[in-house]
Amino acid sequence: MYPTLVLKSGRERSVLNQHAWIYSGAVKELPQNANQGDIIRVTDNKNNLLAYGFYAPKNQIVARLFYFGVKEVDINNTFWRDKILKAYELRKNYLIASNTNAYRLLHAEGDSLPGLIVDVYDHTTSVQVLHKGVELFYQILIDTLLEIGIKHIYLKTKDNSRRLEQINVPQGWATEPFTEDILITENGLKFWVNVEKGQKTGFFLDQRENRDLLKKYSKDKVVLNAFGYTGGFSVYAAAGGAKEVVSADISKDASEMADKNVKLNFAEYENHQTVTEDCFAYLKNMPENYFDILVLDPPAFAKTAQNVPNASRGYKEINMWGFKKVKKGGLVFTFSCSGSVDRDLFRKIVFGAAADVGRNVRIIHQLTQPIDHPINIYHPEGEYLKGLVLYVE
Ligand SMILES: C[S@@+](CC[C@H](N)C(=O)[O-])C[C@H]1O[C@@H](n2cnc3c(N)ncnc32)[C@H](O)[C@@H]1O
Repeated sequence: MYPTLVLKSGRERSVLNQHAWIYSGAVKELPQNANQGDIIRVTDNKNNLLAYGFYAPKNQIVARLFYFGVKEVDINNTFWRDKILKAYELRKNYLIASNTNAYRLLHAEGDSLPGLIVDVYDHTTSVQVLHKGVELFYQILIDTLLEIGIKHIYLKTKDNSRRLEQINVPQGWATEPFTEDILITENGLKFWVNVEKGQKTGFFLDQRENRDLLKKYSKDKVVLNAFGYTGGFSVYAAAGGAKEVVSADISKDASEMADKNVKLNFAEYENHQTVTEDCFAYLKNMPENYFDILVLDPPAFAKTAQNVPNASRGYKEINMWGFKKVKKGGLVFTFSCSGSVDRDLFRKIVFGAAADVGRNVRIIHQLTQPIDHPINIYHPEGEYLKGLVLYVE
């Protein structure tokens, strides 16, 4: 039997509600002889089984749960394979198509697999391992990925998180330089993705549907894609018939890739330009009344709850510049991917920016993450991407 963590009396409610995290404050007895990443049982104060999870004795979240129930189960290869295939089924049934071959296959807690993110780029996966527990099912993960048609596996785990979590790299994983760009198709549009040099696992798959919405509104518009990374929104704007598109990002590599991606789809399109610059400065200095549509998709300003006040100031500032500068009757697509800034707070920040600038602003869409980034209803912390489309008079 696995080592057992016993909860304090009255602290079982969140586990009964299938919330995936156990905070150290809820623990009555830590498991004996268990190490970082080991599987543990979780029981209530009366020794009734509630869940299984991965143990992390040094973290504030001491266990991340992947099974809930009163019955003991065998955590074997079939257990993990079933979970991976269930996640695949959702994508296969509702997302993967001849015009979309890049998607998130495993979204950590959203797919009941804490600590694991697997993004698929055609026949390659870019894998992020964020918890040592995942080591326990590396081999079956690899086998199941091969079973669903994946040919190359790239482990993206950053060196520092690998050290912190003491994550080992399994043999046979492609961790040697993986420099080739991969060609993907998203809603019929093509993109180059570099899993090694790129941010996150290579591409911001979570904006797929929001990019498609921009396409719908772009006809004859002048569009600024601020914090544009490799030009995802820019390609969709051009596809929608934008008169002019500017992609701005602080990263030179991202700007070069944005240029490449627009050319890949629209070799003849002459009205795209990239700007490699800090977007705070760019937004401040750009002309007023020039852009019809602005996309503001900055990096997560708040990585932790402590950063929320600073992050809020950052979000407010860029939205203020946006509202000041956008053309009358224009649109602002504004986003936050900070998990610690929830939907209500983000809306309040955007409200504050609009009020300070003093323009009439109306919400016409409220956006979120797509179906391959599912939010477990019992784990609302999984909702991280928030967006608003605003009509500015
Ligand atoms: C969330 S990503 C944008 C993803 C993009 N919208 C897409 O669909 O692919 C944020 C981007 O902001 C860039 N960035 C970070 N800080 C910046 C800054 N101060 N000015 C400009 N770009 C910045 C990063 O290089 C990154 O490409």
